[in-house]
Amino acid sequence: MRVCVPRESAPGENRVALTPEAAGKLQSSGFDVVVERGAGVLAGFPDERYAEGGAQLADHAQLTDAAEAVVRVATPTAEEVAALRPGVVLVGFLEPLTDAEGIARLQARGVVAFAMESIPRITRAQSMDALSSQATIAGYKGVILAADRSPKLFPMLMTAAGTVAPARTLVIGAGVAGLQAIATARRLGAVVSAFDVRPAAAEQVSSLGATFLDLGVRGEESEGGYARELTPEQQARQQQALEERLPDFDVVITTAAVPGRPAPRLIPGHAVESMKPGSVIVDLASESGGNCELTEPGREITHMGVTIVGLTNVASLMPADASRLYARNVTALLEHLAPGGVLDLDFEDEITAGACVARPPDGPTATGTGEEDA
Ligand code: NAI
Repeated sequence: MRVCVPRESAPGENRVALTPEAAGKLQSSGFDVVVERGAGVLAGFPDERYAEGGAQLADHAQLTDAAEAVVRVATPTAEEVAALRPGVVLVGFLEPLTDAEGIARLQARGVVAFAMESIPRITRAQSMDALSSQATIAGYKGVILAADRSPKLFPMLMTAAGTVAPARTLVIGAGVAGLQAIATARRLGAVVSAFDVRPAAAEQVSSLGATFLDLGVRGEESEGGYARELTPEQQARQQQALEERLPDFDVVITTAAVPGRPAPRLIPGHAVESMKPGSVIVDLASESGGNCELTEPGREITHMGVTIVGLTNVASLMPADASRLYARNVTALLEHLAPGGVLDLDFEDEITAGACVARPPDGPTATGTGEEDA
């Protein structure tokens, strides 16, 4: 199977779908990998490294010629979709829950599209779980951003000049990103509290040495371990309870999300005003609108002395390791879809069927649907 790796075109996207190591691994298990020149540069992987591992390099215009699969990080633009051959396998973060138009475009083009977000979260698919791998990176980087923006030291220090109290940190949402944020903040010496609506999160929070903050709100867990959206009454209660506790914290990292829905609004503007000047909020839910009312997605602002970091695509700020993990997820999926480099799609299989978000109605193959390029 000929697998192509384009250079990402989305603004601020520094990651690449396959690293030289992953490309080499695929080459040795029966795939042919073709990488667009410059595709890995922003992640720290120059073209020569791909060539050393046996991958071919191609210019943009020739890249997808004879491609049977195209693997990428961000969803393709309309122009990029138009350049795909009908029947080609496409793998990436295709935003199936929030970009219906993009999925319809792939469907209309006759592409066999697999969204990394739709891979079922079952034990057998753990090695393909890119939501988790990228959330882990974002959780870590969120704390590093907070530590950098905070005027306070994170650890407690006892010095000849006196004792410095540790930073008090609150992590809201204790899923994959939140748990990594807790662990990272603890490693830096902060005193950490955390909250999540899923009752199962309390034990995980405690096992990382953080205190579970009881806000008196319990949500439900849906299939796959995700939270369900709270009722408006529960949300109001949560906001109020949180508001009373926020002034106790120097740093707040928010990660609360409900798949396919706007991020729950947990911190109203006036609650930010109750925080101490110099406090920092890093809103890792900014991509889906933010957990804080004042978050400006993609920007960093200061409101009455409180810094609110709303940077989006935070995993891409650590592109080398984010790409390494993502590439392993993609490699595991490709090996599942095409064992030994030969495409063998089994739509009875839970992973293949779950991840597929668009395919031609008359049975997909990697060699085309019978249609010629429009
Ligand atoms: P996510 O990114 O969708 O949400 C992040 C967190 O926000 C979740 O823990 C959610 O409970 C929480 N949240 C939602 N509404 C909230 C609110 N109003 N207030 C406070 N917190 C709120 O979820 P993520 O991190 O992708 O995964 C969540 C869970 O999925 C994991 O903790 C785990 O149980 C399960 N999971 C299972 C895997 C597997 O079995 N292979 C792999 C990864 C996750």
